[in-house]
Amino acid sequence: MAFPAPFPRLPCSRALHPCTLSFVRIIIGVTGGSGIPYAQDLLRALQELNIETHLIVTAGAARVISAERSTLEEQPGKVTDLERFAQVVHSDRDLGASVASGSFRTDGMVIVPCSASTLAKVALGLGDNLVSRAAHVTLKERRRLVLVLREDPLPRPMLENMLRAFDAGATIMTASPGFYHAPESVADMLGFVTARVLDQFGLDTGRMQRWGEA
Ligand SMILES: Cc1cc2nc3c(=O)[nH]c(=O)nc-3n(C[C@H](O)[C@H](O)[C@H](O)COP(=O)(O)O)c2cc1C
Repeated sequence: MAFPAPFPRLPCSRALHPCTLSFVRIIIGVTGGSGIPYAQDLLRALQELNIETHLIVTAGAARVISAERSTLEEQPGKVTDLERFAQVVHSDRDLGASVASGSFRTDGMVIVPCSASTLAKVALGLGDNLVSRAAHVTLKERRRLVLVLREDPLPRPMLENMLRAFDAGATIMTASPGFYHAPESVADMLGFVTARVLDQFGLDTGRMQRWGEA
């Protein structure tokens, strides 16, 4: 089965789709895996790149956000620390939202972190909340779907679901930063994962030192 090739590398300052020359639009699903700071870092990077993001936060993620608040950049008065980086925020319960339909054009979706539970829904094609529905739509429209998983150790059902989601067209990633770029801070480690996710869309903030590139 052929899946879309990564977009050509785009200039950092302007985020236009290379074919349609319309602005790039990406759905960001945040679910209840540990690693909400990865979501915040990715949203911030996409905001820097002037990309239209549609954010969906599950109830499971809201619980984890409160546990991981100390690692997140906070701003008083916001429901979560993620919303300030998103252009559009959808309720996970709103199955009538724009992103629930394939006729609403997007350039793809990232679920970060992606819990084992949401992975199972994606693998089986369930759509009982907006994150899983939007992921299903992304796959059926043959758009790019990136799942950034976080769980250890990995039980057999999760390994099987990873393979099912992969076979359906998803890109399976793990929230596991490399160390060959000599990270000096948590921000550097978050930035590594963010850069690898952006690579899937041909986007680059220029912040990560790439192996073999000056
Ligand atoms: C503090 C905390 C950390 C969690 N970490 C993980 C995790 O790393 N991976 C995972 O798959 N689930 C994790 N969970 C469990 C999920 O949040 C839970 O299964 C939830 O139902 C997922 O629902 P969702 O996919 O709709 O967000 C965690 C839960 C809590 C409260």
